[in-house]
Amino acid sequence: MSEKIKVPKGLAGVIVDETKVSKVMPEINSLVYRGYPVQELAELCSFEEVAYLLVHDDLPNQSQLNDFTAKEKKYRSISEHLQQVIALFPSDAHPMDKVRTGISYFGMEDKLIWENDPQTNRDKFMLLLAKIPTIIAYAYRHQKGQAVIPPSDTLSFSENFFYMCFGEVPSKEVVKAFDVSMILYAEHSFNASTFTTRVISSTLSDLYSAVVGGVGALKGPLHGGANEQVMHTMLEIGDPVNAKQWMLDALAQKRKIMGFGHRVYTNGDSRVPTMKKYMQQMAASKKGEKWVEMYEILEQTMIEQKGIYPNLDFPTGPAYYMMGFEIEWFTPLFVMSRIAGWSAHIIEQIADNRLIRPLSEYTGMAQRSPKPVASR
Ligand code: COA
Repeated sequence: MSEKIKVPKGLAGVIVDETKVSKVMPEINSLVYRGYPVQELAELCSFEEVAYLLVHDDLPNQSQLNDFTAKEKKYRSISEHLQQVIALFPSDAHPMDKVRTGISYFGMEDKLIWENDPQTNRDKFMLLLAKIPTIIAYAYRHQKGQAVIPPSDTLSFSENFFYMCFGEVPSKEVVKAFDVSMILYAEHSFNASTFTTRVISSTLSDLYSAVVGGVGALKGPLHGGANEQVMHTMLEIGDPVNAKQWMLDALAQKRKIMGFGHRVYTNGDSRVPTMKKYMQQMAASKKGEKWVEMYEILEQTMIEQKGIYPNLDFPTGPAYYMMGFEIEWFTPLFVMSRIAGWSAHIIEQIADNRLIRPLSEYTGMAQRSPKPVASR
């Protein structure tokens, strides 16, 4: 190709490929997964149904769902070796690094690692969907010096995760709020981590390598890591009466406020009203009214002052905190869900692949010759 095209920094506004997985429509504040609006999926479906939808192109019927959930339950346990690896993780390492390493180790256990056909990659997705929560829950309990709780084979995906972390299943409202967060986090077109998985897959590397790369991209505070930062901000503010002044001071200092703004949505993130509703419903039973009050003040002040709206990380931060998760574990929860979107994109990329390999504009030294070390 002789023609060179210069694109905006950060690929902002650039369409790099086609996808049938999801569509973000900022003009009408909507996001659809395979044609279904996420807010309707969140009201009517379980996370398991939505995970199936993303990877199998449509919602399951009852028998397909039974088969899918039976497999997910069956695959939840992890090998003795992987359990030993988790027990050896440095206790002060960031949980995202633990999840990244756990997934990477599991990939080495899969004898079919190099098989890249759609059915084998759907099977690998199924394994990761079932095992990532176990990796996270085991690492979580190890870090707290608690004995691990093996997965249940009867509870739903979300119920089982609470059970493995805390030894009990919370109220229906809490489980539903968590399940909704899983649905809303599952997919978001060509975001940074998904694009990373597609770049890795375009080299015809394996699904595990692509997912591990996705975890690395998601960890950053400009992407998935924002939900942790939101809760740090709320704790720093401490009381709703301080919220407005805190925001005004932060904006005067030109600070980036985590949980606000989005590359694609300019008039609000379509997922936020749904998550906010479930966060609010749960707050009453969790004595979390102060976080809801603070949320409202921060949101209102930011919109008034800058016209910038919250993104999904803004309601999930306080929601996960009220559910009892420690802050540094919030982004791994995102991984449990986004594995569905990443897998759908990996399968799509490989089905119609071309190596992703852009050019760069060189701005370094003009060509020159090295001198022997003694004369430099
Ligand atoms: N707080 C304060 N100002 C913000 C802001 C925020 N969270 N998000 C955007 N802005 C402002 C920028 O300061 C910039 O203003 P300027 O033109 O006066 O310099 C303008 O809005 C554009 O921001 P920019 O960072 O260039 O937009 P982007 O499209 O490159 O970035 C994000 C999008 C998501 C990275 C950015 O909004 C951000 O950093 N948000 C906080 C992190 C976060 O919540 N990430 C999760 C995303 S789902």
